[in-house]
Amino acid sequence: MTGRGGAPAANGRPLISCRGVGRVLGGRRRRTEALRDVHLDIAAGESVAIVGRSGSGKSTLVGVLAALDRPQTGRISVAGSDVWSVPERRRRAVRRRFGWVPQDALSSFDPRYTAGEVVAEASAGGGAARRPAELFERVGLDPALAGRRPVTLSGGERQRVAIARALAVDPDVLLADEATSGLDVLAQERVLDVLAAEAGRRALVLVTHDLRVARRVADRVVVLDRGRVVADVAADALETGGPELARLLKAAPVL
Ligand SMILES: Nc1ncnc2c1ncn2[C@@H]1O[C@H](COP(=O)(O)OP(=O)(O)O)[C@@H](O)[C@H]1O
Ligand SMILES: [Mg+2]
Repeated sequence: MTGRGGAPAANGRPLISCRGVGRVLGGRRRRTEALRDVHLDIAAGESVAIVGRSGSGKSTLVGVLAALDRPQTGRISVAGSDVWSVPERRRRAVRRRFGWVPQDALSSFDPRYTAGEVVAEASAGGGAARRPAELFERVGLDPALAGRRPVTLSGGERQRVAIARALAVDPDVLLADEATSGLDVLAQERVLDVLAAEAGRRALVLVTHDLRVARRVADRVVVLDRGRVVADVAADALETGGPELARLLKAAPVL
């Protein structure tokens, strides 16, 4: 188990730091404050679940954390450097520290590729890259599946291919946005096992609207409501109940 409540990394600063972040989306007609004054620190190796209702800003936050989406206000630092005040070349290097596991893995794969090629392409170049066979093993996939097209795989297998692809660059942070939400319970459990095994080796940011999923994998649970962080608690608080849990459920009644 790693840091709690935004505990700093060993070098004394968080891996990712959000300070007063505000993100407005949409045009003049439909303008949404997707994030409002968000303060959030994530330490190296820490597992953080981001929970909240649909539309609460979870995906927006993930895009902002990974330096893909620029907030209008506030500051995002990764490893101590302000990601929007460095040259684009450095920002691209920051983005490469993040491994993405999307909700719908299939649509993120090039349809011409086999599962093995999806992972091999991600592994190509880059000193830290790993061999596809090793990555298949790491996510509990039979290496024989490497020759299959992702469309012929089950939902759970596809998600594990997506995790293998994300791990190919040995990221400092693994980001999973609703990565298990379309799966049946058994497949979901197996994908969560894989994510849980990575926890501690790298930071894990897991977006979910399922509190059980959060509790299973995360050290910490951050609750968003209408773009605001309304709770930021140790996952243990969910086990023991008490005032923290009551506060959390009040903040996110659908959880
Ligand atoms: N391109 C966009 N234009 C306008 N509003 C958007 C856009 N994308 C998302 N939103 C709105 O921003 C809010 C946060 O969205 P999102 O981060 O996707 O929420 P979540 O992932 O928690 O469901 C929602 O109200 C959503 O409707
Ligand atoms: Mg979302």
